[in-house]
Amino acid sequence: MSLRTQSSLDIDEDELQELSAQATNLVFEYMTTISERPVRAENHAGKTLATIETELSSEGRPIAQLLASCRTIMDLSRHNGHPRFFGYVASPSTPVGSYADLIASALNANITCWRSGPAGTEIERMVVRWLGALINYDRDAKGLLTSGGSMANMIALLIAHRRKSGVNTSRVGLWNSGPPMTIYASEEVHLSIAKAADILGFGRDQVRVITCDERQRMRVDMLRQKIEADRREGLRPFCVVGSAGTVNTGVVDPLNEIADVAAEFDLWFHVDGAYGAPGSLDQGKKHLFAGLERADSVSLDPHKWLYVPVDAGCLLFRDDAAARAAFSTEDADYIKTHGYTDEEAFAFWDYGVELSRRFRALKVWMTLQYYGSRRIAEAISEDISLAEYLGEVVSNADDFELLAPVELSICCFRYIPRERPSEIDLDKLNERIMERVQKGGIAYVSNATVNGHFALRACITNFRTTRNDIDETVAAIREAAKNLPQRRNGAK
Ligand SMILES: Cc1ncc(COP(=O)(O)O)c(C=O)c1O
Repeated sequence: MSLRTQSSLDIDEDELQELSAQATNLVFEYMTTISERPVRAENHAGKTLATIETELSSEGRPIAQLLASCRTIMDLSRHNGHPRFFGYVASPSTPVGSYADLIASALNANITCWRSGPAGTEIERMVVRWLGALINYDRDAKGLLTSGGSMANMIALLIAHRRKSGVNTSRVGLWNSGPPMTIYASEEVHLSIAKAADILGFGRDQVRVITCDERQRMRVDMLRQKIEADRREGLRPFCVVGSAGTVNTGVVDPLNEIADVAAEFDLWFHVDGAYGAPGSLDQGKKHLFAGLERADSVSLDPHKWLYVPVDAGCLLFRDDAAARAAFSTEDADYIKTHGYTDEEAFAFWDYGVELSRRFRALKVWMTLQYYGSRRIAEAISEDISLAEYLGEVVSNADDFELLAPVELSICCFRYIPRERPSEIDLDKLNERIMERVQKGGIAYVSNATVNGHFALRACITNFRTTRNDIDETVAAIREAAKNLPQRRNGAK
């Protein structure tokens, strides 16, 4: 006899079987048709809601109807896993990672601490060590998985600040913590650093912007000058952020030289490798990352170049006392780990912002274990060689110009018509080409500003992409350029 209450939301076993089968079919259908779909569906604002049932049901709706709506939602989406999707920094999820996420949701462990999620906590701490080892940072790294690179960077800045501020800022607040403390990062650093400085109350102006050399790498001579000038002004430099793979062009800052400066001025050295750190798995690129192992903390996103489904960011560090000093709190009874000692008293709330946390580690663990580090490294190397191939194609063509060397897996370039227009018109032209390509559905490139020029930007973090896809993308750009409607004011 069933002991189920009237209000139970459990469903009976037959229906559960049906739900599992139908949902799995839908995922199977998606995974096996993604390459044949347009990269981006013909869409406009409001179309999704005009297509599915929008009234909140009071009595519930059948699974078949809901899964049909899921199919519509999939159809109306932009497919970041499509082999010709090269916008922003987005990778396809592997099927294995997707199913791992389902398993994690079914278990619904809350990874606040070992007590709440013993198995999940152990897996996460192990995955963090693996990630530290994988990128040659530290095989005994501490840290935590986050929603993404922005959160990892913000946590790093808070830990850095609390380590260097010299007073108990957590208690007394920034206004009682002495003169402003400053952060240093190149002009190419990701926007999340300035945003974190804002959110944490340091102020965006306290992020000192260091100019780059002609390859978009931080100029370390300028870094030193700026730190010295700020010190003379009575400011307190506390942190330098190096990029290991900038979001615009994918370059790696001179990490060893930055580490030297950090050591000289007693700064926390954070490396933002959210996108690029896995590039160090490519033997030919390892040298670019020399010095990363000297960082106090490193961000890297498994949901970018390790092909794990969103969300999975990570912050690595060595000194967990610094993290605890920033985040530990004993103020609330409900988080006291009574009766637990050592490993069993471990809590992720001592390392970061979130209390309730998803079991993100399962999909990272399952992805890495299923494929193995060698196959993941091969996929990364293939992405790099495809970006290099695109770089060659545009360099060898009369109607394209490469705008930055391809250092990891990002290629920035622009279309140049036979009659070369002014620089301003070239920017406008390439912007219009990008819009047209994005809406056309064959391929998807985004944009970057490189040395003041509007660049078409392809970021290849995609294990489905082939050389043929690169050729088709170049053809789609040419086609878009040829068929642009003339503007009345004469601009191309
Ligand atoms: C270098 C770098 N840092 C940080 C981020 C932010 O990561 P997320 O979008 O996961 O917050 C990005 C995103 O593209 C990035 O490329």
